[in-house]
Amino acid sequence: MSDIQEVVRDHYAAAARQIAAGDDCSSSGCCSPGYAPQDLIQIGISAGVSLGCGNPTALAELRPGETVLDLGSGAGLDVLLSARRVGPRGHAYGVDMTDEMLALAESNKAKSGLANATFLKGGIDAVPLPEGAVDVVISNCVINLAADKAAVIAEAFRVLRPGGRFAVADMVELDTLAPEVKKATDAWADCIAGTIPVEDYRQLLLAAGFEDPEIEVHAVTEVPEGGRIGSAYLRARKPA
Ligand SMILES: C[S@@+](CC[C@H](N)C(=O)[O-])C[C@H]1O[C@@H](n2cnc3c(N)ncnc32)[C@H](O)[C@@H]1O
Repeated sequence: MSDIQEVVRDHYAAAARQIAAGDDCSSSGCCSPGYAPQDLIQIGISAGVSLGCGNPTALAELRPGETVLDLGSGAGLDVLLSARRVGPRGHAYGVDMTDEMLALAESNKAKSGLANATFLKGGIDAVPLPEGAVDVVISNCVINLAADKAAVIAEAFRVLRPGGRFAVADMVELDTLAPEVKKATDAWADCIAGTIPVEDYRQLLLAAGFEDPEIEVHAVTEVPEGGRIGSAYLRARKPA
């Protein structure tokens, strides 16, 4: 595990402990839920467990019977919402490297009563699923945390079936951040320092083999030390 991954894992282990103790996301990381209250009521989980920057389950237009994978599933909200949308003939997987987050996700799964959700321990750059195993890859505010984003996007491409969809919420760099911010590991774990420009993200998707990448920035944040980041929705398709 790289140094940055260890910092990220420790940060999210602490966030999971806070959420388990009843604190919501506002004190533990980036958070802008965007979930419909009726969807949350149906799975019995509060949006307060989200550490995401959007709602990739809405972006993905999930259909009954589909298989979904969430990269960096955290407390499991997007996996459980996906499991509900794809129904009993479909399945939702979440992969996360942090034991405390996996434990929280299992406890939220038990509360939801959903059986078609599975949480796997692993890195998002080495997903423990075979090639072509899923119809849709989602992720919420996680790929920016990876030191090797090309490896993560290549892994998303590998696990998707031909014609499969990539539908991700993530943070991007809009105006160059100050060098001291880029070097700060706590800013990395807070979804700031690891962001890359929209055009770099598009090139990584194309280099992995994805087609028709679409990237839409839907909220902008000024970074006090200089520069701006944004919450973005990213969509692309694996050729059929
Ligand atoms: C900002 S939180 C987002 C959690 C969740 N997607 C959500 O929207 O609430 C980042 C999550 O990604 C996980 N994570 C970060 N880097 C990872 C990696 N390289 N491999 C696996 N999990 C990772 C962390 O453990 C944490 O649960």
